Amino acid sequence: MHHQTLCAVAVALLSALPGTQAGLYGKKSPVLQVDAKSYDRLIGKSNHTSIVEFYAPWCGHCKNLQPAYEKAAQKLQGLAKVAAVDCDDDANKQLCGSMGVKGFPTLKIVRPRKGGGKPTVEDYNGQRTAAAIVETVVGSINNHVKKVTDKDVDAFLSENNETAKAILFTDKGTTSALIKSIAIDFLDVITIAQARNKEAKTIELFGIKNYPTLVLLPGGDKEAVVYDGELKKDAIVKFLSQAGEPNPDPAPAKEKAKKAKSSSASKAKSKSTSSESSSATAEAVEEVPTQEAPVIIESAPPIPAINTPEKLVKECLTEKSSTCVLAFVPSTHGEKAKEALTSLSELAWKYAKGHRLFPIYEVAKENEAAASLIKSLDLTNEVELIAINARRGWWRRYEGANFSQAGVESWIDAIRLSEGVKNKLPEGLIAISLEESAAEATPEATSEATPEATESSTSEEAAPLTPEADEAAAEASDSTATEATEPTPEPETAAAHDEL
Ligand SMILES: *[C@@H]1O[C@H](CO)[C@@H](O)[C@H](O)[C@H]1NC(C)=O
Ligand SMILES: *[C@@H]1O[C@H](CO)[C@@H](O)[C@H](O)[C@H]1NC(C)=O
Ligand SMILES: *[C@@H]1O[C@H](CO)[C@@H](O)[C@H](O)[C@H]1NC(C)=O
Repeated sequence: MHHQTLCAVAVALLSALPGTQAGLYGKKSPVLQVDAKSYDRLIGKSNHTSIVEFYAPWCGHCKNLQPAYEKAAQKLQGLAKVAAVDCDDDANKQLCGSMGVKGFPTLKIVRPRKGGGKPTVEDYNGQRTAAAIVETVVGSINNHVKKVTDKDVDAFLSENNETAKAILFTDKGTTSALIKSIAIDFLDVITIAQARNKEAKTIELFGIKNYPTLVLLPGGDKEAVVYDGELKKDAIVKFLSQAGEPNPDPAPAKEKAKKAKSSSASKAKSKSTSSESSSATAEAVEEVPTQEAPVIIESAPPIPAINTPEKLVKECLTEKSSTCVLAFVPSTHGEKAKEALTSLSELAWKYAKGHRLFPIYEVAKENEAAASLIKSLDLTNEVELIAINARRGWWRRYEGANFSQAGVESWIDAIRLSEGVKNKLPEGLIAISLEESAAEATPEATSEATPEATESSTSEEAAPLTPEADEAAAEASDSTATEATEPTPEPETAAAHDEL
């Protein structure tokens, strides 16, 4: 138990160091990581529909979305692209701005236009669950599958009769995501069609008895081939490839028109290195994405809310909890609440870039989570801001005349610098023991920590901490641990989309 805490502390310390904050999605993640350089090639020019998450690694809602987003990526594998852009990375800021990203996470669905040209981009404002994301993305996959009926089957077959065609015979009236994605892979290579079992003449023409059945007409006077393999995308693509190669996606990077030729004299020795570097050059020649004028990100994302007593305790009221800033506001935000929350979110946003700030939460006053705290601290105003440090047993109240950003900022600065008077917390407020709170942390909470960081810090001596660093680390560990432990209940996706 003690170990877990230390690991979390060290992880938080490392991630607080400038330059070491990695993106949310690791190398093994099913989520495609895209940056300003690769965006156009991987997303903008793809024939497939994509969903793109614009995020910042420090943003709590982004961390909360991560498991659902990765699950969606798994379910959409081969059907659509699930990508993420780290907007905290300076290199991507212009891209994020040009996409109109104003808060995190922002999800956008990028859908190629059928006639070509710039794709359409729409905000995804649905539920942030894997099931909801999958449904919406699947609904946005372009349909290039031609429906064949008895009436037009002859015309269909004779049209471009030298090019390959494939017909999926199905007993369904709908077009599956899988066949749509296959049609996109083979755009202008193989015409993909589907015919329903009701089309008696067509069925008879091909002697179809079972559904679904996929028939490939390689074109010209070549014999039709019936597919009898697994109904999986990879296998089907491989089968169809006998009649024509699928479009490479992403399109291969254009090589430089003229590659520097190494002189023949010293070629033998440097051969392997020169071929390596030339392939690296080819990789590097990516087109700079065409961007519209950058948009300034003007509004900060809202601060997270605490809605349950358990969460309040876990975040801010255990014996290990360091400084939290809590904004008690009525659940229907009045002018004061709006002003206070705006100031806090602006501050959180501002500080997110540089120094670490305390975790800041909105707590609805009506919430039972807030009741005992409000009562025992005798907080009587409509809106109250407090800073509380359960570990050290102190709290402070914001006494400013209004909740302007300047006022709230100077109060927070004073807390950071440990200036001013701290009030002693009343007895009995911090009731949770170390063991209990540690036990609440699920194993994932710590295993999700980056392995490099955990390894280097398994003993107490490993971290010679200054008091400030200790404080900062403990604070960071709080937020890291709790965000990771938040359950994300997720209903199973009802429909399987990897079926024909
Ligand atoms: C292809 O179509 C042309 C005319 O539309 C026809 O003359 C030819 O026989 C057709 N070939 C096959 C293999 O059906
Ligand atoms: C997109 O489809 C066109 C055919 O319409 C094809 O030429 C092109 O290579 C495809 N692009 C990608 C990236 O797959
Ligand atoms: C907020 O209060 C400060 C004094 O604490 C004052 O200088 C400032 O003008 C006030 N701002 C607003 C918007 O009332």
